Amino acid sequence: MGTPVYIYSRATLERHARVFREGLKDAGKIHLAFAAKANPNLAVLRILANQGYGGDVVSGGELERCIAAGMKPGDIVFSGVGKSRAELELGLDRKIGQFNLESEEEGQLLAQIAASRGETAPATLRVNPDVDAGTHAKISTGKKENKFGVAVDVAPEIYARLAQLDGLNMRGVAVHIGSQLQNLDPLEKCYLRIGQLVADLRAAGHQITHVDLGGGLGVPHRPGENPPSPAEYGAMVARVTKDWDVTLMFEPGRVIAGNSGIMVTEVIRIKPGVNSDFVVVDAAMNDLMRPAIYDAWHHFEAVEPSGEKMIASIVGPICESSDIFAKEREVDRVKTGDLGIFRTAGAYGATMANTYNSRPLVPEVLVDGDRYAVVAERIDPATIMAAEHVPEWLK
Ligand code: LLP
Repeated sequence: MGTPVYIYSRATLERHARVFREGLKDAGKIHLAFAAKANPNLAVLRILANQGYGGDVVSGGELERCIAAGMKPGDIVFSGVGKSRAELELGLDRKIGQFNLESEEEGQLLAQIAASRGETAPATLRVNPDVDAGTHAKISTGKKENKFGVAVDVAPEIYARLAQLDGLNMRGVAVHIGSQLQNLDPLEKCYLRIGQLVADLRAAGHQITHVDLGGGLGVPHRPGENPPSPAEYGAMVARVTKDWDVTLMFEPGRVIAGNSGIMVTEVIRIKPGVNSDFVVVDAAMNDLMRPAIYDAWHHFEAVEPSGEKMIASIVGPICESSDIFAKEREVDRVKTGDLGIFRTAGAYGATMANTYNSRPLVPEVLVDGDRYAVVAERIDPATIMAAEHVPEWLK
């Protein structure tokens, strides 16, 4: 395949899907929707569909991917603050299972579209519980200043107005406070608030049958890191929600896909630096954006470690100082031509890749025991250029 390349493990994806489900064994009736944004590759989605997962989608594109991969439309949940009219119509056309509304205006629009078609759209209201998830600010979503959901104190009024509209079947609430959570406390605090809201809504006469608890469970990025396990998460959920009497819905992304994938790169050269050597690799920030935008740690290892270590900064070829994967870090000693891997690259990796600096779009491979398949081809600059046009009047 050449490098850089993402590699996913079918066995690990399946195991993570199973372990997450098993963690929720005491949580009553559940619905699992893989957050497609974490890894929307069709083969990955197919694996999750085969594990009985639906999809949590945030665009028409993700919706079509989930269906193309074999997920049942009724198992698809549509989240996101900016669903367009066309996307709402697409959701109705495809008869998806649930719309998670993020504002009153969105609810009014969906109601109007559905009613004009003589249909009723199943929906929840996403609530912003004003809880600090304690994760990186750029992946926190549940503080009151964030754009997501409606504030918990105004949720009952908005819910009541939406519940009256023809075209909507308001059946519950949804919440998601952030990603890569290292601690269950914010989630518990959030779910307790949601439990109170469910009680208040019921007291006001609403039938609440579904509560979507979102995703967000963190994963270990470095050896020794120990975020809560799915079993610990599931035990907390079972305890907090035991009297809710609803179908609980979950939108796990990273916890399923993150450690199911790696990115492989080749060392282009070693360049002496002031504080430590630079290991220049052929992967760059366009292939794996997370270190550049969230200061994320992706563990680096040599494919064939010699046993020796070195202190080095691992950098890509892009013309920006943010194109750095590791700063003055102790890593396996590597030399020009060696292969190395970045771990925990199965979620928010390839899907966030782009072609900055006119680099190719990174390919993806799925491994299954002793066989493998290319599940996304490398898209070369010529193909990308072919979609661009110089107007006649510039020629
Ligand atoms: N549900 C909703 C409504 C979400 O917004 C998200 C993630 C998830 C579920 C899945 O969360 P997870 O289980 O994967 O934590 N690009 C960032 C992560 C952005 C997450 C956005 N929303 C990163 O690379 O860390």
